Amino acid sequence: MPSPASASNNPVLRLDSVSLGYGDFTVLRDISLEVSRGQVVAMMGGSGSGKTTLLRAATGQLRARAGVVTLFDQDLAQTDARQLQALRQRMGVLFQQGALFTDLNVFENVAFPLREHASLSQAEMLSRVLNTLDAVGLRCAAHLKVSEVSGGMARRVALARAVILEPELVLYDEPFAGLDPISLGITARLIRSLSDRLGCASVVITHDIAESFAIADQVYLVGQGCIKAHGAPATLHASTDPYVQQFLNGHPDGPVPFEYPSTPAFESWLARQGALQ
Ligand SMILES: Nc1ncnc2c1ncn2[C@@H]1O[C@H](COP(=O)(O)OP(=O)(O)OP(=O)(O)O)[C@@H](O)[C@H]1O
Ligand SMILES: [Mg+2]
Repeated sequence: MPSPASASNNPVLRLDSVSLGYGDFTVLRDISLEVSRGQVVAMMGGSGSGKTTLLRAATGQLRARAGVVTLFDQDLAQTDARQLQALRQRMGVLFQQGALFTDLNVFENVAFPLREHASLSQAEMLSRVLNTLDAVGLRCAAHLKVSEVSGGMARRVALARAVILEPELVLYDEPFAGLDPISLGITARLIRSLSDRLGCASVVITHDIAESFAIADQVYLVGQGCIKAHGAPATLHASTDPYVQQFLNGHPDGPVPFEYPSTPAFESWLARQGALQ
C-alpha cells in the first residue's frame, strides 16, 4: 500500500505564515515555504538568522507560535508524540553538530538506524551500509572508531547515517562544513543524486553559495527575521535587491547585519555585570 505521502502530490513539507522563537525572543515571523518530492531546496542566511530554528520546526522539536507546519500532509500542531515519532521515521536529519555515537565505530554508526527500524540479515546489512559508506568515500573507513576519523570524515559518516533508511525527506544542516573542495563537490552531487534517484525531498542549510546554487531547484534567503528572497538560483543571481546582492557577493557593507543584535536579555545581563564591579 502506498504511504500517504507517496499517494499525494502535496509538498512533503510546508510552512504557512509560521512564527518561531525561544522564550520571549521571536526569531522568525511569517515564514512560508514548501518542499516537494525530488526537489533540493537550499536555505541560506547569515549566522544566527534562524536556519537551524527552521529545521527544528520541520522535525517537530520546536512548535510554531503562529501559522501551520505541515509534514507529510499532517499538521504538526495536531500530532501526538507517537504520530510524531512515525513521521520522523520517514525523514533523515544531518544535525549541525554531527552527533555521532563515540562508542560505536563508523560502520555501527551508519548501521544504527537500520538496526532500529529495519529487519535485515547480516549480509544485507553489511552490503547496504558499505554501499552507503562507498557513496561518501568512506567504505574502507568502516572499521575506524569515531575518535580516529577527521572532522570532515565525521561529517560524511553523519550524512551516510542520515540517508541510510532512504527517507522521503532529508534535512541537512551545513553538510559541507569542514569538507575539502573535492569532498564538498562530491557531497553536493550525492545530495542531488539522492533526490533524483529516490525522489526524496532535500533541504540543505548551507553557507556555500556556489555549490548549493549548482544543485538547488529553489533557494530561500533568510534574514532580519523573515524570508528576504526566494526563487530559482538564476532568479536570485539576477536579483537587483541590495540585500540579495550583498549576501551573494559577500560584501562587508550593506543591509545585511554582521553584529548579533542587542536584546533586553543582553542589556539586563550587562547591567548586572556593571553592578558587580
Ligand atoms: N535553544 C535556544 N534557546 C534560545 N535561543 C536560541 C536557541 N537556539 C537558537 N537560539 C537563537 O535563535 C537565533 C537563531 O539561531 P539558529 O541556530 O537558528 O541560527 P542559524 O541561522 O542556524 O545560525 P548558524 O548559521 O550560525 O548556524 C539566534 O539568535 C540564537 O541565539
Ligand atoms: Mg545553524
